[in-house]
Amino acid sequence: MNDTKYNMYVRKLISHVAKKPEYWHLAHQCEELLDESCYASLSESLKKLDVGIPFEYIVGWTEFYKYRFQVTANVLIPREESEILVEQSIINLSNSTKHNLKVLELGVGSGAIISSILLSTSKSISAMATDCCPAALLTAKNNSIRLGVNITFKQGDWWDALNSNEDGPFDLIITNPPYVGTKKLNERDTLSGFEPSISLYGKEPTKSGTNDAMKIIRGASDWIEDDGKLLIEHGFNQRKILSDFAISEGFCVLEQIDDLSGLPRVLMLGK
Ligand SMILES: C[S@@+](CC[C@H](N)C(=O)[O-])C[C@H]1O[C@@H](n2cnc3c(N)ncnc32)[C@H](O)[C@@H]1O
Repeated sequence: MNDTKYNMYVRKLISHVAKKPEYWHLAHQCEELLDESCYASLSESLKKLDVGIPFEYIVGWTEFYKYRFQVTANVLIPREESEILVEQSIINLSNSTKHNLKVLELGVGSGAIISSILLSTSKSISAMATDCCPAALLTAKNNSIRLGVNITFKQGDWWDALNSNEDGPFDLIITNPPYVGTKKLNERDTLSGFEPSISLYGKEPTKSGTNDAMKIIRGASDWIEDDGKLLIEHGFNQRKILSDFAISEGFCVLEQIDDLSGLPRVLMLGK
């Protein structure tokens, strides 16, 4: 972490331990923290920051899209790149003429993506979200309750979490599966080492990191409406392999979307 970022986190931690609004420190730089316990708490937090624990885990929340989400050590800290999934979902949902739309997020983590979608559209939506990790589902549920969005949560391994008689087909399926490969020169280099391994590498880490995305694409046709869409986030070097795979599984690649750094990041697939 560079000095500027570190200093910014230290200032934000001061506001946090003083239980003040996030940018309180900016207007109160010469003010002493009144409560002695604030110093102990600040010192603890700084120790955590110094060993590389992400700021978001120390304070227990992060900002994503336009909202604040609780994050625990059991969930990935949602990334800015994943806001593409939210933006594309909103566009797709608002272009639909259907009255009640069924939306699914696979691998929900903190719930930031599906909650942001629900908070940002006026469409009537039945939302479902899955994860294999019960602790992640609990965090997602807490976030959904606090933000007042209605989501049905299911636990299980990708498509196995769903009941074929009751759930689906879905108009929109969104997923940001684990996609970090174990070989070098991948997204791995920018990771803190404190996020859950299953969120980054999946249950069975592979060199390419495409295993989970492929499992999802392989099973998707049974769960998607004929005019439905699958939005899938992927690693910057996985666009071709996943596009080719999706086509071999009978999907059309409707869009290939780059992130703000200009890196390949999301595929939109349709039947
Ligand atoms: C990259 S994280 C994405 C979390 C969240 N959607 C986000 O973007 O912040 C992947 C999520 O998939 C879940 N996951 C990993 N393997 C899974 C599996 N085999 N079946 C279901 N969920 C899985 C992890 O627990 C994790 O929450």
